[in-house]
Amino acid sequence: MPVINRIAEFHADMTAWRRRLHAHPETAFEERRTADFVAAKLGEFGVEVDRGLAVTGVVGTIEGGNGPAIGLRADMDALFVSEANDFAHASAVGGKMHACGHDGHAVMLLGAARYLAETRRFKGTVRFIFQPAEENEGGGRVMVEDGLFDKFPVDGVYGMHNWPGLPVGRFALRAGAMKAACDIFEITVTGRGVHAAMPHLGADPIPAACEMVSAFQTIVSRAANPVDSAVLTVTRFRAGETTNVIPDVAVLGGTTRSFLEATRDMIEARMRLIADHVAAAHGVAAEVQYERRYPSLVNHRKEAETAAAAAAAVVGADNVDADAPPNMGAEDFAYMLERVPGCYVLIGAGESSPPLHASTFDFNDEILAIGASYWARLVETVLGVPAKLEML
Ligand code: NI
Repeated sequence: MPVINRIAEFHADMTAWRRRLHAHPETAFEERRTADFVAAKLGEFGVEVDRGLAVTGVVGTIEGGNGPAIGLRADMDALFVSEANDFAHASAVGGKMHACGHDGHAVMLLGAARYLAETRRFKGTVRFIFQPAEENEGGGRVMVEDGLFDKFPVDGVYGMHNWPGLPVGRFALRAGAMKAACDIFEITVTGRGVHAAMPHLGADPIPAACEMVSAFQTIVSRAANPVDSAVLTVTRFRAGETTNVIPDVAVLGGTTRSFLEATRDMIEARMRLIADHVAAAHGVAAEVQYERRYPSLVNHRKEAETAAAAAAAVVGADNVDADAPPNMGAEDFAYMLERVPGCYVLIGAGESSPPLHASTFDFNDEILAIGASYWARLVETVLGVPAKLEML
């Protein structure tokens, strides 16, 4: 693999770091041990370290003279998943594991920091942003709200995620919307419980809730523009305790995904309308809680071109898909891209990698040097290497 030779030399170190983080997963805003490790490594490399943004966030800075500033972001958090692997570096913490590869993301950025601190073939400032709580809790948003870009201004910000199914040695990205906006909902349908054999004496919330689930399916299929993409998935339906009692309450929950803000507004409005009117028709009440979560992740055109060029400098232009299809997953790097232009890329984790969030997942260590080389080349591309690019 045509990675930067100097980075290939510390592939063994990166593998050891990655496995160490994998064995000690920490979830949202509790990444203390992980942040200690990251901060200690940055310190060893001679990188200036600031801590405490978004509780456990770490920002490393290398000042390399007058020039633009670039932010490179990695996430650090694990998931509430019980690891099914039994190799030596499997999670030592019950019920938690690095099932999304954020252990690898943090280490690829550390590898780049080590190389960049050593070689300094750029003019400008590099910020290494290690954020907590990417999963569900929006650590990226909290970092921005805590003043990330006020305290550590950058002209561009970049993110990367490993991607199972995409071959090792390949990158994928696109200019424009790449990940969907993500919202969650919970609908409480309240009727009047009664004996199951005498439904006429109560108000059954279950048929009403079922009709809501069916009617919601028409929002994407009938009310959204067919060339726009959206998803509405009911993931939870809870009601009742036994076979001979109609319950008082049925509760539905799920998620919606969309790219356009107008579509997002439409989905929420229609869900409320359907819930209210179906409830009224059944003589029950519906309470809709609809919570806006992550915005759509939108890559900026110029920065997407820059990211593609940096990836091509590592793996060759033939291995960079700069017009990859978007997907309906969500990613809180979107909050950073709302503030600063930038680009998020996917790095191939291989066709044999288990899927993200699977209990059998393990970050593919084979790609550590590729990812670190991408970060390094990105900095050298944006902040201008004086001489021609050489494989050090
Ligand atoms: Ni992830």
